[in-house]
Amino acid sequence: MRTPFPRIPAQTPSIFSELLVRYPPRFDLTVSNPTTAGFNYPHEEIGAALAKGCVGVYEPDAQGLISAREAVASLYKSSISTDDILLTASTSEAYGFIFRTLCAPGDNIIQIAPSYPLIEHLAELEAVHVRVVESVYEGRWITDIESIAACIDERTRAIVLVCPNNPTGHRPSDAEVHALADLAQRTGLPLIVDEVFATYGFRKPQCGIAEMIENTPALVLDGLSKRCGMPHLKLGWICVRGPAAFRREMMQALSWTSDQVLSVSTPVQRALPELLNIGEKIHAQIFSRIRHNRQTLETLVRDFPACTLYDADGGWYGLVRVPALQSEEHLIAKHLEHHGVWLHPGAFYDLNKGVHGVVSLLTKPDVFAEGMRITFQLDGV
Ligand SMILES: Cc1ncc(COP(=O)(O)O)c(C=O)c1O
Repeated sequence: MRTPFPRIPAQTPSIFSELLVRYPPRFDLTVSNPTTAGFNYPHEEIGAALAKGCVGVYEPDAQGLISAREAVASLYKSSISTDDILLTASTSEAYGFIFRTLCAPGDNIIQIAPSYPLIEHLAELEAVHVRVVESVYEGRWITDIESIAACIDERTRAIVLVCPNNPTGHRPSDAEVHALADLAQRTGLPLIVDEVFATYGFRKPQCGIAEMIENTPALVLDGLSKRCGMPHLKLGWICVRGPAAFRREMMQALSWTSDQVLSVSTPVQRALPELLNIGEKIHAQIFSRIRHNRQTLETLVRDFPACTLYDADGGWYGLVRVPALQSEEHLIAKHLEHHGVWLHPGAFYDLNKGVHGVVSLLTKPDVFAEGMRITFQLDGV
């Protein structure tokens, strides 16, 4: 069985799911679905692009229609061949395709924590284990590349890097990227580089690493979900990078996997060039809001020296640490019950030392500012 259910007979709801029903939050700081966050979607333009895409016959291609792959290739500065691109129905699906391609049941991948919790579930669905290497925070997140190397065993098949990371917003330094690329080249283990937040950099608008690792065996993931704020249109992609033989073999195997399901709809593929253009308007709104909310966090936290706002390079989340006077669970439950503020506990992301809150920068600015002000006032002294 690859789902948790036979092992956890009655799924125990967290105390939060019950509290959320009893006390619907007035300040929900966790909204991470952009379609529900009050942005202006040009629905008619999106509809028109998809309607045009409905015209014509169905001629599927396991890698995705060439016109759509050309549109993806044009997003990258360094030249990338359409032969090295494969479309999927989402980035999450891309992970599944990759795990199936690289791993036999019982093999493992390495993930740097804290990070995106869904990866562990996606791996579990493919009977793949996740070995976790903790990064540490010293004014910025640092990952010891030697610890990653030490974690590799004969069943390790890949190293996952979410960049910038979710929820820390951290992008590794250039030196760390070079060291990781070097490790991948030495061991032959590909990097799985999840760049869904790469166009949301606070310091440099583009904060991915794909352009730095051209000669490294790597699978770079992105999609419409975050880049264009269109998770509902279900289109992601994998760019295979590295030596020619690796690219050829990976693409053969990925195409075979994709051919069994042909999951990406033809209309969305045909509409992709237009959707990427329309998506720029949505991206601009999201980008402006996340920078605004990040600025709010930076300003508010100055008055509460006992609280830490973690440094971040980009992404949709903010990570704060407050004094550990009570347990994280108790504190977050108290905020919800008595003050209507709902933020995610750090434990959801494997942050198990100290008391953390993870907040979505997509939240409407007035709700965000008030919810964070209440949080800091309650916990900051
Ligand atoms: C880091 C990261 N990767 C991938 C995804 C999934 O994206 P998609 O909607 O394309 O499956 C998410 C969604 O939140 C994410 O945070």
